[in-house]
Amino acid sequence: MAEITEVGGIKLGKLLAEGKTKQVYDVPSQPGYSILLNKDRITAHNGVRSHDLEGKATISNQTNAKVFTLLNQAGLKTAFVRTVSDDAFLARKCEMIPIEWVTRRLATGSFLKRNPGVKEGYRFSPPKQETFYKDDANDDPQWSEEEIVSAEFKVNGLTIGLNETDIMQRTSILVFEILERVWGSLNCALVDMKIEFGVDSEGKILVADVIDSDSWRLWPSGDKRLMVDKQVYRNLATVSADDLDTVKRNFLWVSEQLDKLRLKNEHLVVVMMGSAADMDHCETICKYCEDFGLNVEMRVTSAHKSTSTTLQILKEYESAWSNLVFITVAGRSNGLGPVLSGNTNYPVINCPPMKPHTMSLDVWSSLNLPSGLGCATVLYPEAAALNAAQILGLDNILVWARLRVKQLDNFVVLMLADKRLRRIRHWE
Ligand SMILES: Nc1ncnc2c1ncn2[C@@H]1O[C@H](COP(=O)(O)OP(=O)(O)OP(=O)(O)O)[C@@H](O)[C@H]1O
Ligand SMILES: [Mg+2]
Repeated sequence: MAEITEVGGIKLGKLLAEGKTKQVYDVPSQPGYSILLNKDRITAHNGVRSHDLEGKATISNQTNAKVFTLLNQAGLKTAFVRTVSDDAFLARKCEMIPIEWVTRRLATGSFLKRNPGVKEGYRFSPPKQETFYKDDANDDPQWSEEEIVSAEFKVNGLTIGLNETDIMQRTSILVFEILERVWGSLNCALVDMKIEFGVDSEGKILVADVIDSDSWRLWPSGDKRLMVDKQVYRNLATVSADDLDTVKRNFLWVSEQLDKLRLKNEHLVVVMMGSAADMDHCETICKYCEDFGLNVEMRVTSAHKSTSTTLQILKEYESAWSNLVFITVAGRSNGLGPVLSGNTNYPVINCPPMKPHTMSLDVWSSLNLPSGLGCATVLYPEAAALNAAQILGLDNILVWARLRVKQLDNFVVLMLADKRLRRIRHWE
């Protein structure tokens, strides 16, 4: 490639790494960041097959940006920052962990060669996790978890032990499950995929490298014969110009599909309070809802004192929204939640603002419901928002993904606390 000194108005520093499909440049103006520049090059079988493919860099850059933007929006820690030109993007500068993390939903390809007794299409549930040591000279051998831990990789000051390996395993499954949902909503089966991790200058493990049509098997309508990923190129006996054109058209189709993603479905959480005195409690609920990317609105109405208005408000929302959750906040006797619940098909979550000295009395007005009612009751604002997100996440990929990332974050926080506090204390 000709020497390049600038992309998208950003001056490039020294070339840090160059592989088969990308160059990595330092960015002198932004320490801790790098520019990844895609090449118009397609390779397979560890570089044994390799062709120039004009336009591939731009398509890869677009697919990668769409995928990583989504993962970032879900709250996942990734190296991707933003695209800076047609064929380059800005990323956190990482030292890479030399392992490929493969996640499979269906058995196919190399898995069948290594496990000849398994039929093609065998469905892994949960998804199957495999790891391969990045070593071109030895055809990227499969490694066990024990081999990864035993290697004691030191990456940007972080030693990769059992905890770090566990985090990457869980993150790989999570990335797969999010993208499987994304592709499922576009009527494509994500069969398997590969990701890589790096460690940034702060010692954080990030999903890094790229995720594009090189990274996965993708079968439209779940039909292997319709595959649109790099396997088409790998499978060719000989490679003609027409074949390369087909591969490129497939890659472009994949990138365009991602534009059709319906990420923000119409939905609303209505936080209804019996009195404006409960405002702070409701604000906290709203803040947690917004953290999950939920649309939220607050209303004040008392089911005891302004019953007909309460029901009128309910009917207004029912007429305007199909994905709707009510969170009701009423102290003392909670008429609001049960009355709403008795008059709507939409989920109602009671989150009464409890005072410690009356809590054991008041909570029963939310819990001990007349027959025919099914509202839920939680005591904490975060729990109310979580419950609403779980309901709306059934039909909203981004909300579902944020919940999934939050689960992983909870796990990581606990694991890191354990790592920090783990001490063996012996009596003499
Ligand atoms: N955020 C990042 N910071 C620094 N380096 C990165 C980052 N993301 C990816 N890289 C590295 O960029 C290099 C070039 O990528 P490329 O995919 O072209 O390599 P490759 O020929 O496939 O070889 P490899 O088998 O190492 O991936 C790789 O070594 C990759 O690990
Ligand atoms: Mg690579």
